[in-house]
Amino acid sequence: MFRTLRARLTLWYMVLLGVTLCFFSGFLYLTMEKGLKENLDNKLRTAARVLAASVARPLGPGPSLADVERIMREHFGLKPMGRFVQILDETGRRATNIRDVDIPVSLRTLELASKGQEVFETVRLRDGGSLRLVTVPIMIQGRMLGIVQVGSPLDEIQEALDQLLLVLVISVPLVLVVASLGGLFLANQALKPVDRITRTAQRIGSGDLSQRILLDGLPRDEIGRLAETFNEMIAKLERSFEQMKRFTADASHELKTPLSVLRGEVEVGLKRTRSPEEYRRILKSCLEEITRMSRIVEDLLMLARADSGSLMLRRERVNLRDVAEEVWRSFYREALGKGLRFHFGGRAAEVLGDRERLRQMIANLVDNAIKYTPSGGHVELTTGSSDGVAVITVRDTGEGIPPEDRERVFERFYRVDKARSREKGGTGLGLSICKWVAEAHGGTISLESKPGEGSTFTVKLPLLR
Ligand SMILES: Nc1ncnc2c1ncn2[C@@H]1O[C@H](COP(=O)(O)OP(=O)(O)O)[C@@H](O)[C@H]1O
Ligand SMILES: [Mg+2]
Repeated sequence: MFRTLRARLTLWYMVLLGVTLCFFSGFLYLTMEKGLKENLDNKLRTAARVLAASVARPLGPGPSLADVERIMREHFGLKPMGRFVQILDETGRRATNIRDVDIPVSLRTLELASKGQEVFETVRLRDGGSLRLVTVPIMIQGRMLGIVQVGSPLDEIQEALDQLLLVLVISVPLVLVVASLGGLFLANQALKPVDRITRTAQRIGSGDLSQRILLDGLPRDEIGRLAETFNEMIAKLERSFEQMKRFTADASHELKTPLSVLRGEVEVGLKRTRSPEEYRRILKSCLEEITRMSRIVEDLLMLARADSGSLMLRRERVNLRDVAEEVWRSFYREALGKGLRFHFGGRAAEVLGDRERLRQMIANLVDNAIKYTPSGGHVELTTGSSDGVAVITVRDTGEGIPPEDRERVFERFYRVDKARSREKGGTGLGLSICKWVAEAHGGTISLESKPGEGSTFTVKLPLLR
């Protein structure tokens, strides 16, 4: 039963409240008892002192019964009923006694009184009740003429205390029950969203990553934030799960196409005997497909190793201008052959990194620029630095990239125009590799493009000082 959080919370709450209430009740009871007794003692003492002062001197018959009753009533609101007053002379002989009850006077009391002390005592009466009694000496010039004793039964105080006890005994458990019901309700309210989260998590656990926790009506408190974070986490998981699925499907598809082309060519070649020229053509076509497959496999392998973290980057001083110039030289003929102007504007920019990977990144960008820019266009490769960052830009006046594809071109196998990219020998992995290289060097890659006017890829890397 106490395995749920709400039950445990309520239990703890009840225990704490119960202990507090018990302490409080005990404290209340004791304070009340002490207060009532002190109050009674004070009243008795005052009455006795007044009586002692009013006793005639020398000690005559003392005030009459009516006098005593009047004094008691007028000054102290003490009803004579149940009160005891007696005045004794110094020999202990009784001068006045309001109730006809014999209040025993102990020797010790007389002794203390003769020394001028006031004495409080609780006396058991013969009928079983208790009497609170004060003895005040009547002193004249240092001599005790007699004593005044005023008493009051303790029954009333006891009754009041009993009543208080009854109230406490009934109300404390009642308060506890009501409070624990309230506590259970509150705990329920507070933990309701947790149930929602648990149910959603169970559905996700059974394989449905599209599930989200309904945030409507959730308070913006710790649990609300937990739910939100949970949703974000699931969204991320779902995205990477989707990516992984798509990646596997894309990779197999990418490899299947060249394989079936290869198979077709070989089958055609084997159908009948052919001339050496024909064999040469078939083999050339086969070689093309094999080259494409090896490129895909190489790129995939590199990305896979990058993902698993086993691809180590070298960290050496690299001047980006030199690397870019090397790339420019290797692509220069191809660009000219396509009828493009290919411009290189290199300024020194040193970074710490892997020369070969950086070369690969720049080559991928230049390769794209040349591939996707029609003849007569212009491609420009520059390096340089500004504000502590090394910058590489590859600008072209090609077909551009539509805004909706600008983020996605960096995804693996994503191509704006699949058929055309394949026709041009693309694998759709080039920009993913560029992005990885830039980020692995602590940098970024960004793209600006106007469809029909061209694209600019900008890589920013931390500059070496
Ligand atoms: N300079 C560019 N101009 C126009 N489109 C580009 C350019 N660079 C990349 N793209 C688009 O981005 C896609 C992804 O590029 P990439 O990852 O290098 O793959 P691939 O070049 O093998 O097709 C390309 O298919 C192309 O649609
Ligand atoms: Mg490419």
